[in-house]
Amino acid sequence: MKTGHELFVHGMSDILDAERQLVNALAELENDSTNPQLKKAFASHRNETEGQAERLEKCFQLLGEEAEESECAGIKGIIEEKKNFMEEDPAEDILDVFHVGAAIKTETYEICEYESLIDMAREMKHTKIAQLLNQNLKEEKAALKKMEGFEKKIKPNQMMDAAQEARARESSRSKRKRAA
Ligand SMILES: [Fe+2]
Repeated sequence: MKTGHELFVHGMSDILDAERQLVNALAELENDSTNPQLKKAFASHRNETEGQAERLEKCFQLLGEEAEESECAGIKGIIEEKKNFMEEDPAEDILDVFHVGAAIKTETYEICEYESLIDMAREMKHTKIAQLLNQNLKEEKAALKKMEGFEKKIKPNQMMDAAQEARARESSRSKRKRAA
């Protein structure tokens, strides 16, 4: 690979694969979550994500290039983390908290990707492509904001058990003593 154009095609292929993986992952998140609003948010972002993949396909048409057969390892990794976490047999409320965190990681990853792709598209004067990518970026930013709202609201039902609380009290007491 020698040119920015090739790097751009590579990045576009990567994010297209990411969006396709996420269509399925969001369905799973909707299914496995308990909080009704969270379920709804995952379902609606899934619909958006289908539209995002279509916009990316349109970008490839405008570019006159075929998407590479590449796999987005970053998003795949986040999806794998969720699969592994299921083996911890998490309680429903804990799983919801985990899902919100996973969604925040995902959106942040996508936002970084779109921002650099938009920069490159503008650099190469692909104005229409930059606009389409910007629509995806806006949706990801809105999804991130929504998830950050859930992060403030959805907490574990029980933060600590009695023994963990006793240990926390003990350690803050000894810290205070040391400070005095
Ligand atoms: Fe997305």
